[in-house]
Amino acid sequence: MKPEIIQYCPLMPGLEAELAERFTVHRFFEDKDPDGFLARHAGAIRGFVTGGHLGLPPDLGAKLPALEIVAINGVGFDKVDLNEAKRRGIRVANTPDVLTEDVADLAIGLSIALLRQIVKGDAYVRAGQWLGGDLALGAKVSRRRFGIFGLGRIGRAIAKRLEGFDAQIAYSDRVKLDVPYAFEATPQALAARSDVFVVAAAASAETRNVIDRSVIDAVGPKGILVNVARGSLVDEDALLAALKEGRIGGAALDVFADEPRVPDGFFGLPNVVLTPHMASATGETRQAMADLVLANLVAHFAGEPLPTALV
Ligand code: 8YV
Repeated sequence: MKPEIIQYCPLMPGLEAELAERFTVHRFFEDKDPDGFLARHAGAIRGFVTGGHLGLPPDLGAKLPALEIVAINGVGFDKVDLNEAKRRGIRVANTPDVLTEDVADLAIGLSIALLRQIVKGDAYVRAGQWLGGDLALGAKVSRRRFGIFGLGRIGRAIAKRLEGFDAQIAYSDRVKLDVPYAFEATPQALAARSDVFVVAAAASAETRNVIDRSVIDAVGPKGILVNVARGSLVDEDALLAALKEGRIGGAALDVFADEPRVPDGFFGLPNVVLTPHMASATGETRQAMADLVLANLVAHFAGEPLPTALV
C-alpha cells in the first residue's frame, strides 16, 4: 500500500510524476468537494505537500489525525504552525539554500528596475513616446545606501551582490552580527539611513506589520522599499497611502499581504514595480526545490533522517 498524501498546490511536473509513483496523491487544490474528500480520506492522510506561501491552514491540519509529515516547497514556514507540529509529532521540512541566489538576484533586479525605470522605459518605447522626447531621468544604483532588514541567508546574499555595486550597506537583525556592514537595532533607524530599504526577514508574529508608517516615513520621499520576503511584514495600507501622498519615493514588491490579490490602488501608481511572487521562480531553482521536497518525503517514509528538517 502506498502512503496517502495531500498535494495542496501545483508542483513541477517531474515532481508530480515522482510523487505519483511512490504515493497515492490527492490533488486537494483541484477537489470540488473538499469536505466530502475529508470525510472519506482525512483519516488516511500521512503526508502534506504545500507551497511556502500556503503552508498548512490550522483548521485543515486539525482534520488530519494521521498526518506525519509536512513537506514545504519553499523556505518560508510562516504558514505552518511548528509548535503544533512538534506537539503532534509531525515532521516539517522546507527547501532552504537552493533558492537563496534567486531571491537575492530578484531583490537586486527589482531595485534596478525601479531606480533605473526599466519597466517604465519599456512601456515608453512600446507606446511610441520616445519619438516625443526622452524619458525623465532615473536614479543611480551604484554607491547608493541600501538597508537590508533581515540578514539571514537571503539578506547576506543580497549584501554580497551589493558589494559589487559599491553600495553603502547597513542592516537590521535581532542581534549585531559579525559582518562588515553597519548595524541598526530598529527598522526605523535602518530606514533613516537607507535610500533603498530591502525587506528580507522571515515572517513571524513578531515581524507582522513591522514595516509600519513610521518606518515608511523614515525611508522618505527620496527612498524606495523593496520586498522579497512576505507581504505580512509590511503594513500595506500605510505603504499605499505613503506612495499616493509622496511620503515614500517608490516600492518594488514581489509579495503581498493577501496574494494573489493585490490592492487595486497599486495599479495606477507610476512609482511602483509589481511582480507575482516570483523570486524563486526559475526552472533551475524550482527543480532543486522539487528534488528536496521529494528527498524529504522519501526519507521520512523510509524511516531515515530528513535532509532539511525544521521539526
Ligand atoms: C515560493 C516562497 O514562491 O520559498 C518560499 O518561502 O515563498 C517561494 O519560494 C513558494 O514557496 C512556492 O511554493
